[in-house]
Amino acid sequence: NLVCQASLRAQETVVSEPSELADIDWEDLGFGLIPTDYMYVMKSDGSGNFTKGKLQRFGNIEMSPSAGVLNYGQGLFEGLKAYRKHDNNILLFRPEENAVRMRMGAERMCMPAPSIEQFVEAVKDTVSANKRWIPPAGKGSLYVRPLLMGSGAVLGLAPAPEYTFFIYVSPVGNYFKEGVAPIHLIVEHELHRATPGGTGGVKTIGNYAAVLKAQTAAKARGYSDVLYLDCIHKKYLEEVSSCNIFVVKGNVISTPAIKGTILPGITRKSIIEVALNEGYQVEERQVAVEELFDADEIFCTGTAVVVSPVGRVTYRGQRVTYVEDGFGIVAQRLYSSLTSLQMGLSEDKMNWTVEL
Ligand code: COI
Repeated sequence: NLVCQASLRAQETVVSEPSELADIDWEDLGFGLIPTDYMYVMKSDGSGNFTKGKLQRFGNIEMSPSAGVLNYGQGLFEGLKAYRKHDNNILLFRPEENAVRMRMGAERMCMPAPSIEQFVEAVKDTVSANKRWIPPAGKGSLYVRPLLMGSGAVLGLAPAPEYTFFIYVSPVGNYFKEGVAPIHLIVEHELHRATPGGTGGVKTIGNYAAVLKAQTAAKARGYSDVLYLDCIHKKYLEEVSSCNIFVVKGNVISTPAIKGTILPGITRKSIIEVALNEGYQVEERQVAVEELFDADEIFCTGTAVVVSPVGRVTYRGQRVTYVEDGFGIVAQRLYSSLTSLQMGLSEDKMNWTVEL
């Protein structure tokens, strides 16, 4: 028994050795690429089945200039995070949800996709291989970026003849340069992110290229990001460039309903469940832009942004302020509940976390 205890202690010492961590400054990580050791690569065969996935050193990839993704945007991405617990165990948050969403997006984009099992196993393998890049508990997380792309050559417009699934990772901290301070959004009423019948509801790469113009203009004017309106009525809230939006009034938390133009965020879905469990009323519905002026709090959710408080919103020159600094009460409560779960600090009654 003594021997057993000693060897257990020895193992614990080994895993908590600081040399197990990559030699970088873990303080104040932002959201920029820090290259790590390995990436995962898996190709489809002629009939669209993915086989022979493998880890390889992280680095540039080779592709035909006429690859479907480069010419016609046939590509999808995902995002999820791995957290290091104080005991050095690693937690993933709902990875099968990302797998399912990638498969739904692939259907819309005429692409084959890895199975849910292949996706989740590949994520686990990639995170394990890059374990030394997972920030120490409380310093951030490892952002995991799965990509699916038409890598085969095309010239005429058609689905690519071959597909590649990649996963790369990067340690990250706060998404917005404001850190945890509230962000300032501007409501965009001319440019739109998505149209009914389009691809706004899937995580295709082009959706993100489409928002760069409005986002860049907004940032140049000092705003943190852009809040988009529906393109038909130019009246109902859709989402922010990289995250979903929630509006709080009293005990009621409202968020735009998923109807094809809004990305079905996994953090969005999780926050709705957390809020319901905590006794809030949650409404998924059309949320009119005027409701911003009557709200107690606004916050954004997403894998990258987690729960980000919105301090101010500007719409057609009118500005409304919710919080000067820090979180509003509701956003703070939901942020704490969600991140405690993700970091393994509270009991995971929903079974959302997956230990490596
Ligand atoms: C994420 O939150 O994971 C996203 O995909 C947003 C991305 C623009 C960083």
